[in-house]
Amino acid sequence: MFAPVYLDHNATTPLDDRVLDAMLPFLRERCGNASSRHEYGRAARDAIERARYLVADAAGAHATEVIFTSGGSEANNLFLKGVAASIPVGTLLMGATEHPCVVQPGKQLQALGWRVCRLPVDVHGALDTGAGLRLVEAERPGIVSVMLANNETGVINPIKAVMLGARQQGAWVHTDAVQAFGKLPLNFRELGVHGMTLSAHKIYGPIGAGALVLDKRVDLQPLIAGGGQERELRSGTENVAAIVGFGRACELLSDELAQRVAHMQALHSLLEHGVMQLGAELFCVGATRLPNTSFLAFRGLEGETLVGKLDRAGFAVASGAACSSATPLPSASLLAMGVAPELARCAVRVSVGYKTSVAEVERFLSVLKETVQDLRQLTAVAV
Ligand SMILES: Cc1ncc(COP(=O)(O)O)c(C=O)c1O
Repeated sequence: MFAPVYLDHNATTPLDDRVLDAMLPFLRERCGNASSRHEYGRAARDAIERARYLVADAAGAHATEVIFTSGGSEANNLFLKGVAASIPVGTLLMGATEHPCVVQPGKQLQALGWRVCRLPVDVHGALDTGAGLRLVEAERPGIVSVMLANNETGVINPIKAVMLGARQQGAWVHTDAVQAFGKLPLNFRELGVHGMTLSAHKIYGPIGAGALVLDKRVDLQPLIAGGGQERELRSGTENVAAIVGFGRACELLSDELAQRVAHMQALHSLLEHGVMQLGAELFCVGATRLPNTSFLAFRGLEGETLVGKLDRAGFAVASGAACSSATPLPSASLLAMGVAPELARCAVRVSVGYKTSVAEVERFLSVLKETVQDLRQLTAVAV
C-alpha cells in the first residue's frame, strides 16, 4: 500500500505497537464486563483500575479524579454542560481559540440562557492574561474554560493567572489539555484547575478513549445516565480494551516524554529553518509553542491547494481551514489573533511525531520546495 509520510500528529497519532499488544487480550479472550461478579469481570475491573492509575500518574492527578470517557470531545462536553446543569445560569468564559467541542457546547448553553464571552488572545495567539483577568473581574463567570495548547497554532496558553483569578471569584475552571498531553509535562494540581480534558489518540493510544480529570469538589450532572459507571458521572459499559490502551500509552509517555520532546524539538527546528528558507511565513513564533507543531503559509497559495498537492506527492499535512462547509473557512485561531483572512486561507499545519525521522522531514522540505515552485509558476501563468 502507498503510505504517505505522516506529518499530521495533531489530528491523530498512530497506535503504538506496545499499546496494541496491551489491548489485544481484551479484544480476544479477556472478554469480561467490568461490572460482572466473576473472574472475567474482576479481570476487566482490575485492568481498568490499573489504567486509571497510569493515566492519573501521567497527568499529575489522583486515580480517583480520573473519569473515563469516549474521548476529548465528550470530556469537554461533560465538564461544561455537567457543571452548567449544577449551578445557576450565568456567564461562561472561554478562550478565543477553543476547539469546536468547547465552542459548540457553549452555543448549546447560550440557548439555555447562559452568557458566553471569549477571552482574547494577543497578536502571537496566546491568551492575553491582563485582558483575561479584567474580563473575569467584570463578568464574575460561573465557568471558565481555556485550552492549554492550541491544536492549529501549537501555542501554549499561560492559563494559571486567569484560572486563579477566576477561582477566587468562585468560578469552576477547566482546561482542554488534549494537545498539550504528550508534548509537555502536565500536572493537574499545578495548573490549578477543577477539570482537565485528555484524549488517548493524541498520545499514540486508541481512538475512542479519553478522560476528564475532575476535582472531587465539583458537582457535576452526567451527560449519560444509566448503570452508574465512573462514579455515576458516565454510565455505559466501559470500553475495556481502549481504556487499557490509554493506560499503556500513558505509562510509555511517563517513561519517554523527555526523549520524545527532545526528538520532536530537533525536527521542529529543522523543519522551521527549512520552510523559512523557502519563503514561508510562520505563525505564532512570538509565543511559547508545542515542540511538534508548525503553522505556516506561503502568501498567495491557498492552504487547501498546497495540502492537496502534497498529499498526491506522498505527504500528509493539514490545512488551517475548517472544511465542514463547501467553502473552507480560514482558521478561527488565526482570525482571533488578527491575521488577515487572505493570509489565514494560506495556512498549512505540519505536526511531527516521536517516530518521524530526520530523513522524512528532509524529503518533505525538498518536495515542498518543488510543489511551491510549481504552484507559483501556475499562479504566475494564470495572472
Ligand atoms: C484541542 C482539542 N480538544 C479536543 C479534541 C477532541 O478530542 P477527541 O478527538 O478525543 O474527541 C481535539 C481533537 O482534535 C483537540 O485538538
